[in-house]
Amino acid sequence: MRATLPLMLTMVVASLGAAVANASDPVDVRAMFHRGDRPVRVGSAPRDVGADDAATCARCHGEIAAEWRASQHAIAWSDEVFQAAYAVEPMQFCRNCHAPRARVGRVPDVFSQAEGVSCAVCHVRGGHLYGPARALAPTRGAHAAEAAVAMRTSAFCEGCHQFNFPADSGPGGEVYGTDEPMQNTHDEWAMSSAAREGTHCQDCHMPWVTSSDGRRHRSHAFPGGSDRALLSEAVRVEGSATRTARETVVRVAVLPGRIGHSFPTGDLFRRAELRVWADDDRAHAQTVAMARSFRTELERDPHGRPVFVRRESGDTRVPPPGVGVITPTELRLATRARVVHWALDHMLMPSPMAASQGFGEARVRTTIAEGTLTVRNGDTP
Ligand code: HEC
Ligand code: HEC
Ligand code: HEC
Ligand code: HEC
Ligand code: HEC
Repeated sequence: MRATLPLMLTMVVASLGAAVANASDPVDVRAMFHRGDRPVRVGSAPRDVGADDAATCARCHGEIAAEWRASQHAIAWSDEVFQAAYAVEPMQFCRNCHAPRARVGRVPDVFSQAEGVSCAVCHVRGGHLYGPARALAPTRGAHAAEAAVAMRTSAFCEGCHQFNFPADSGPGGEVYGTDEPMQNTHDEWAMSSAAREGTHCQDCHMPWVTSSDGRRHRSHAFPGGSDRALLSEAVRVEGSATRTARETVVRVAVLPGRIGHSFPTGDLFRRAELRVWADDDRAHAQTVAMARSFRTELERDPHGRPVFVRRESGDTRVPPPGVGVITPTELRLATRARVVHWALDHMLMPSPMAASQGFGEARVRTTIAEGTLTVRNGDTP
């Protein structure tokens, strides 16, 4: 009995959370985004604003707009790293999230290219404007707003940050969703201790900031994999090193820090590398890679036609906090080191892929932490 009580409490808290997310909201945030199945239909602009482009919102929300302008959401289409990948696989599927305001079957027009994931994509549907906090009456010299409190939860981000690989059965066939996650960030979060503690995506990726008028708002800069401060909180490295008669044995582990999903997460090509070397022999560093890997399998589409589908074949990333047991990796450096150095890098994609797409190593690799291990003398065999 004792053992089941905390579990039952957790279940009650979780279902309360779900109830808050849906009950009195004027919109179901889970239905706002479609995991790449179709574009986002914003519909007509709020009548008392007149337009719904980011420049119009920026007239009154200048600081939020400036934060958003510098975010990856604003450049979801124009981003050179996206464009390089899209050149290889130019699918409607990609446009549904990276140019969510574009018309189906068309090359995105100048407007939807420039908007990317813009204000209206997240705040406007069919003439209604949704905010996280309170209903506003149009008489306030602003515009009407309806309160969708679930905008404060991970459920709001899920429809774009959790989705499966598409499969394409070629000419005469069709593109359809498989059951293999292409990005798994929301589900990684759902099993993490962050979810159990009620810490949502917004709590880390939309931190509270103070505006110039002294009021507080949620940052729309959406810091992520290119934000050094955030990256440095993600994980920590622990290790030990022992010198034997002719080599140095190093045991290292990368453990989750303040993070709400695997490290790294997001795009399927993201990886991290821990490099370990003896003394000043950096050229002979050994590398521990943290990444997902995939293989291509021949399967049948729903009509029985053959189709190639990508399946995950391995995942060596740091698991979400509170999930699994992390066993240290043992490395053997072929020298009797005085000191062992390590460096932890976050990478947008593997080096050979970056080279093939014309990106230099510095564009895709960020060193997020470095350190040393003191070497103890071990038993001489
Ligand atoms: C990717 C989705 C997304 C985009 C794009 C976005 N917002 Fe938001 N916005 C949110 C979420 C989520 C919240 C609520 C965060 C919370 O309270 O937890 C929010 C909150 C707000 C608020 C309430 C004040 C506050 O607490 O921050 C305003 C005002 C706002 N957004 C304006 C804008 C404007 C203007 C733009 C475009 C320049 C924009 N938003 C773009 C998701 C978005
Ligand atoms: C004419 C000025 C004006 C324009 C244009 C404008 N807003 Fe606002 N907006 C306001 C004011 C004023 C408030 C309420 C005071 C505040 O909290 O900033 C507000 C509040 C909000 C809120 C917060 C609602 C809540 O839950 O607290 C959101 C979200 C928002 N605006 C989004 C937008 C978006 C998106 C656009 C563009 C489609 C836009 N606004 C255009 C003036 C404007
Ligand atoms: C309409 C789809 C959509 C929604 C909704 C959305 N995102 Fe995103 N998000 C994207 C896309 C697309 C990118 C990648 C843009 C690029 O780099 O090409 C992205 C990038 C990001 C990044 C930047 C990653 C980096 O490496 O810098 C963060 C952080 C992020 N989103 C957080 C959120 C959070 C938190 C929410 C919910 C409040 C949210 N997003 C809602 C589509 C969306
Ligand atoms: C407890 C804090 C925390 C929570 C909660 C959290 N994240 Fe993160 N997130 C981080 C940190 C730290 C990083 C930087 C490490 C990295 O890039 O993997 C990050 C990175 C990211 C990235 C960039 C990944 C990359 O390397 O390109 C995306 C996208 C992202 N988070 C989305 C989300 C979404 C969506 C949610 C909610 C389902 C969420 N995060 C919840 C802390 C958090
Ligand atoms: C369901 C929404 C969705 C779909 C569909 C989608 N993406 Fe993304 N994409 C995202 C999100 C969210 C991110 C941010 C994750 C991160 O930064 O790690 C992202 C990030 C990326 C990145 C990394 C961008 C950067 O700045 O490093 C590339 C490249 C990319 N996507 C290519 C594609 C291509 C090509 C397609 C079509 C085959 C596609 N995406 C389909 C949501 C989507």
